[in-house]
Amino acid sequence: MAVIELQDVSKLYGFGDATTLALDEVSLKIEKGEFVAVMGPSGCGKSTLMNLIGLLDRPTHGTYSLNGRRVDRLRSNQAAKLRRDTLGFIFQSFNLLPRLTVLENVALPLSYTGMGTVKRQKIASNILERVGMQNREYFLPGQLSGGQVQCAAIARALVNNPSLLVADEPTGNLDSNGSLLVMELLSELHKVGNTIIFVTHNPELTRYATRVIYMHDGAIIQDEQTEIGKVAKTARKQMYNVSRSSEEDDLAGVSTLMKALPSKPSVRTKAKSRKRASSKKPKATQKRAKS
Ligand SMILES: Nc1ncnc2c1ncn2[C@@H]1O[C@H](COP(=O)(O)OP(=O)(O)O)[C@@H](O)[C@H]1O
Ligand SMILES: [Mg+2]
Repeated sequence: MAVIELQDVSKLYGFGDATTLALDEVSLKIEKGEFVAVMGPSGCGKSTLMNLIGLLDRPTHGTYSLNGRRVDRLRSNQAAKLRRDTLGFIFQSFNLLPRLTVLENVALPLSYTGMGTVKRQKIASNILERVGMQNREYFLPGQLSGGQVQCAAIARALVNNPSLLVADEPTGNLDSNGSLLVMELLSELHKVGNTIIFVTHNPELTRYATRVIYMHDGAIIQDEQTEIGKVAKTARKQMYNVSRSSEEDDLAGVSTLMKALPSKPSVRTKAKSRKRASSKKPKATQKRAKS
């Protein structure tokens, strides 16, 4: 049984002359254990799709089944309950409440369970340990790096043991170290069986995914199975604006982000990727400044 099954899902915003067709008959099936990257230009409907999948919004037309159960016509309180029980959601920013400690933030979703504070905090503490944040429990979000804030947000998303993690540009506001921290964490969670769908503008991050979905004007225009560790083909075209396919090119395309990975490529490759990466630097900075 698929975790997610969307059939001809459309989403219209607004009324009369001012309507926007944000999703145009999207069909999509995601199986347990997939690690799906969603890419596409601004305004193409990525967030709308994440919000529908995350039960934060309802489709105008079409059907949505989550773990085999129809959920496209749920009332808002039913949707809220199901969201709490089955989904973990991570946004680009504003993920944590600034006046609560990291531990309190992570324990927050458990407050509806009627569980006592001590027990809730114990569970939260275990999860923070799992994401490598055990020594930040009593920090306030403002005292963390952007990457650490997102790791805490991921911990909070995990606290109800969700069947799906939905992340809308989780690395959108992060520098390359922060992005690496977050993606490595998502990757670990994927390895232990979690199903993850995330939005990204960075073709490099498709290296983590098993599948990449490309959207345009509210539609899925391509759906590519991809090997972990490699930039997906279409994303690579977008990076260089030409199609390259050799292993050599792949390695040469290693960005500042991947350079920080503790892998040990051959000396020759290392020298080459360093050279390429440094010549690319101004471009990378520009891109970050824009987003
Ligand atoms: N709440 C809303 N009301 C009206 N239009 C919206 C709303 N949310 C998104 N849109 C429109 O729907 C389209 C898709 O938006 P969005 O899903 O946010 O795209 P993306 O995340 O890919 O940038 C855009 O044209 C956007 O302006
Ligand atoms: Mg968006």
